[in-house]
Order: sequence, then C-alpha cells, then structure tokens
Amino acid sequence: MVMMMMTPARSLAQIVHLLVGFSAAVWAGDIQNYLSKFEGSNHQWYPTSFTRDIVPKPIHSHNDYWRKVPLYDAISVGCISVEVEVWHFDGDEELYVGYDLSSLTENRTLNSLYINPLLEILHCQNPEMEFGNNTYNGIFDTDPERTLYLYIDIKTSGVPTYNSILSHLTPLRPYLTYYNASSNLTHNGLLTVVLTRNTPFFEVSLPPTSSSHYARYAFHDAPLLSLSEPDSPYNTTNSLKGTAQFSSIVGRVSGGEMSEAQKEKLKGVIKSVHDRGIGVRLWDTPNWPVRWRNKVWRGLIECGVDLLNVDDLWVAAEVGW
Ligand SMILES: *[C@@H]1O[C@H](CO)[C@@H](O)[C@H](O)[C@H]1NC(C)=O
Ligand SMILES: *[C@@H]1O[C@H](CO)[C@@H](O)[C@H](O)[C@H]1NC(C)=O
Ligand SMILES: *[C@@H]1O[C@H](CO)[C@@H](O)[C@H](O)[C@H]1NC(C)=O
Ligand SMILES: *[C@@H]1O[C@H](CO)[C@@H](O)[C@H](O)[C@H]1NC(C)=O
Ligand SMILES: *[C@@H]1O[C@H](CO)[C@@H](O)[C@H](O)[C@H]1NC(C)=O
Repeated sequence: MVMMMMTPARSLAQIVHLLVGFSAAVWAGDIQNYLSKFEGSNHQWYPTSFTRDIVPKPIHSHNDYWRKVPLYDAISVGCISVEVEVWHFDGDEELYVGYDLSSLTENRTLNSLYINPLLEILHCQNPEMEFGNNTYNGIFDTDPERTLYLYIDIKTSGVPTYNSILSHLTPLRPYLTYYNASSNLTHNGLLTVVLTRNTPFFEVSLPPTSSSHYARYAFHDAPLLSLSEPDSPYNTTNSLKGTAQFSSIVGRVSGGEMSEAQKEKLKGVIKSVHDRGIGVRLWDTPNWPVRWRNKVWRGLIECGVDLLNVDDLWVAAEVGW
C-alpha cells in the first residue's frame, strides 16, 4: 500500500496530493471511494505531525463536500471551518452528503467523509490519549487548542435528521464543544458542531431535561440581525456562531472597497454580537471580480469577522492574513 511508504515528515498537503494522484492512477475514480475503504478500519494512514506546517486561517469551506477530497483539502490550506449538507431517510442509519437528491450516493456519507476521518485525525493527534484527560491536541499542530467548526446543514426533516446527527456525533464526544446545562457552562472542545437550515429550534435549544441529556453537543447558527431583539432566543447556551447576508449589514460595495461608514456599521454589529459571546460569519460576499473579492475579504477580517465564507480555498489561503 502506498501508505506504508510515507514517512512521518510528510505534510498533509503532500499526502492529499499523493492520495489524489494514487486514486486517479489506481482506481481511475473518485478519492471518496478510496477514503471509504478506510471506513471503520484502524489504518494509521498519516502521521501525527501531518498538519505541522499548516497555519489556521479564518476561512469557512462552504459546500466542502464538493472538493476533490472533502475535509482534507480544507484542512490542508488551514480552514478552521467546513460545511456539509446532509440527508436523512427513515429506516436508514446513514446520513447522505450532497447538494440535492440526485447527487447522493451510498458511499458519500457523513460517516465516511467527515466523522471517520475526523476521528482518525484526532486519534492520530492524540496517540496516548485516554478518555478522561482534559487536554487534547486539536487538528492544527501549530495551534493545538484551536477548534475546528463542522457546520452541518440539515436538508431533510428537522427532528429525525437532528437525532441521527446526534448519534453520529457520539464517538466524537470527547472532542466536542458542549454546553453543560447542569453547570451552565460551555466547554470548548477541539471540534464544534453548528447546525443550519432545517435545524429544529425546540430540540436544540430547550434545557435538556433528563440527566442523561445534560449536555448539548450541537449549536445553532444564530441569525445575527435578530440577536438584538429583546426576546431573541439565541445566546451562548445554544449558539456560538451566527450569520447574516453580507448586503443586509454592509449594503452594496463598489470596487471591493467598503466605505468608512460601511466599516463602522459592520464593526458596530460585530462588536454587539461578540459582546454576546457569539462569532460572526457573513455569506453571499461579493465574489467578482477576484481582485475586488479579495479586497472585501481583507476588509471583513479587518472589521473583525470571524469566518469568511469561501469557495476558492487556495486563493483565500494566499490572500495574506
Ligand atoms: C462504493 O465503494 C465501493 C467500494 O468500497 C465500490 O465498489 C462502489 O462502486 C462505490 N459506489 C459508488 C456509487 O461510488
Ligand atoms: C492522559 O492521562 C494519562 C493517564 O492519566 C496520562 O498518562 C497521559 O499523560 C495523559 N495525556 C495527556 C496528553 O495529558
Ligand atoms: C456538568 O455539570 C455537572 C454539575 O456541575 C457536573 O456534575 C457534571 O460532571 C458536568 N458534566 C460534564 C460532562 O461536564
Ligand atoms: C448562566 O450563565 C450566564 C452567564 O454565563 C448567566 O447570564 C445566566 O444567568 C446563567 N443562567 C443560569 C440559569 O444560571
Ligand atoms: C438563552 O436562551 C434560552 C432559550 O432560547 C433561554 O431559555 C435562556 O434563559 C437564555 N439564557 C440566557 C442567559 O439568556
């Protein structure tokens, strides 16, 4: 196997490169097929130092499952956030990953593309780990306490999909950020799950009632503009990140340059959201021309946005942080 030839010095980028080449050469197919062969196995197919040169950046890998190698491509350029869309079908334990029904295949599941690789990465990063230790190493060797955000977009009926997601997350629990309803404390983990779209508010937000459910392992993506409403139900017991459409806060920009007034407004919104302990992601940022887009990205970071919604990872990674 090609994996046996790897030395511990290889970086993730090299490994991804190898995998892509290997898959293309041997199976003439998709890397996902290759990854799925590792499902449920204990192959240590990359070394513990695999992210050692990667500098984490405030990038959200939007529609991450479209990438040649979901998850790995994003991590290899330092994205601290990835997003996946999932589908649940009654009577089927798997959650399928894809944009629409016709894009689903049996091999592309939350387990095969995200949960199992994440478990494998975290196990590799924590070779001595025994559950019960309070400190673990995260995804990024250069910043071991940094959390990786896993956004899960619920495409099917809220409650059954949410319940399925929770059971999928069970093996990752030792690493997850969670809110403990008994102590009223949020514990920062190495992986933070944020749910979007059809997420059932009631289930995610209600104070857990039974003692076996004292902890909340998944959070809302709070609508930023509603946070200042007096009866807003979103706070850090149920939401650690929030989102809004770029234009709903900033308006239109010309030449990729936000005006001083636009920047001040954005900074004001970000400050009030941060004061609530919630991070900011804006979607639908101007995308073209590229030079303007990059200017907007820089402006957003300068104003304090926590996550950039990005489709072109390689460019975003080079914009200069
Ligand atoms: C799923 O993976 C198996 C091997 O693990 C392969 O034989 C099959 O063709 C794949 N199916 C799809 C739809 O990619
Ligand atoms: C985890 O706990 C075990 C046993 O208590 C200990 O030997 C080990 O050093 C700890 N690991 C870390 C990373 O703290
Ligand atoms: C949650 O908080 C309660 C009360 O402080 C504590 O007994 C329990 O161990 C905590 N559980 C976790 C998983 O942190
Ligand atoms: C939980 O903690 C927050 C501050 O972190 C506090 O505002 C709130 O009142 C507490 N809630 C309860 C029920 O103790
Ligand atoms: C947070 O929101 C929940 C419901 O959405 C509410 O029950 C709780 O009192 C709020 N907590 C604080 C500290 O505002």
